[in-house]
Amino acid sequence: MNILILGSGGREHALAWAVRQNPKCDLLFCAPGNAGIANVANCVALDPEDSAEVLEFCSDNAVDFVIIGPEAPLAAGVADDLRDAGILTFGPSKAAARLEASKAFTKEICDACKAPTSAYGHFADAEAAKAYIRMQGAPIVVKADGLAAGKGVIVAMDEQTALDAIDDMFGGSFGTAGAEVVIEEFMEGEEASFFVLSDGTSVLPIGTAQDHKRAYDGDQGPNTGGMGAYSPAPVLTEALVQKTLDEIVQPTIDEMAKRGTPYEGVLYVGLMIKDGQPRLVEYNVRFGDPECQVLMMRLGAQALDALLACAEHRLAGHQIHWADDHALTVVLAARGYPGTYQKGTEIKGLDRLRYGSKLHVFHAGTKVDQAKLVAIGGRVLNVTARGASLQEARDRAYAAVELIDWPEGFYRTDIGWRAL
Ligand code: GLY
Repeated sequence: MNILILGSGGREHALAWAVRQNPKCDLLFCAPGNAGIANVANCVALDPEDSAEVLEFCSDNAVDFVIIGPEAPLAAGVADDLRDAGILTFGPSKAAARLEASKAFTKEICDACKAPTSAYGHFADAEAAKAYIRMQGAPIVVKADGLAAGKGVIVAMDEQTALDAIDDMFGGSFGTAGAEVVIEEFMEGEEASFFVLSDGTSVLPIGTAQDHKRAYDGDQGPNTGGMGAYSPAPVLTEALVQKTLDEIVQPTIDEMAKRGTPYEGVLYVGLMIKDGQPRLVEYNVRFGDPECQVLMMRLGAQALDALLACAEHRLAGHQIHWADDHALTVVLAARGYPGTYQKGTEIKGLDRLRYGSKLHVFHAGTKVDQAKLVAIGGRVLNVTARGASLQEARDRAYAAVELIDWPEGFYRTDIGWRAL
């Protein structure tokens, strides 16, 4: 079958790498892709949020299956338009994508299905929001209701920071995403992510992971999209996974189905674990980035079979064949990220690495410029390794990082510390 992946990051490179290995995949396209993805797929210059462009490409190139990577095309309804045109699609509808596109909607679903989560208030008015903050006190979490490119969550350790966040959000710093806010109780515990596929009714777990959000070693510095990740997450024991499925995930899937907006795709379940109790922090309607990189490293070619079973509504009975393995990814970012950074710096040394089922470098922000590989983003490379233990995966990943020659880049040296 001919397959099109929408997106251009490390997540999409990992998806393309896994899908490419499955003999069911004939032609593989990625739109728009990047320099790394170009090694495993045909990159095409399409706007992933423009349904008409995507549909025309699918019809011209006999595309049988579309996998949507990022949240923006999902929130824009690209999955709906593809399905309406009869194209098999992996990714939730616009209505179901509200589980990420509206924080207030997620809370409403949790209330309706009694999924454990933090206490909260939802406000469309700055003064009412501030009064709530003063009443609750700090620490407290302020979230822009809509999609804000990962920047819409402020964990305020003091009241003034929370009040300033309200001014920022209602002042337009987050565009329309900040027109409404959700203010949440600060949850203590250990964070972990759980990934499931759902075909609208059935749920298939596809792995657990933990990422490192802060830019620098020791969980210091500014928040980022993730500087590294590993899978599995030891904090998510089998019993906790079952509890999460029973108390949070299945009730959510049932509630979405009951409302006539079934959830079809991958559900990224962000959890806080304390005293053996999981509580929902957030849902995302896509694979995490860089969590997808470690999940794909572990799943390999069978990822395509699982995504197809999901899109074709036959997840019940579908099985993942797990190896007893671990994967870890180290993100190489441009110096200055997540603030300002230089673009166009050359990366050398990737040809010194031995790629295979235990090591791959997924590209997140690269292009080829005059025969040189250059960085064009904040997070640029994801050096991802697999091993029989987390330590083995970590050693393999860092040994590969050492071979990469990119003076303008930086990385954390302690990915996986919590689990080791
Ligand atoms: N790594 C966090 C995310 O993908 O949202």
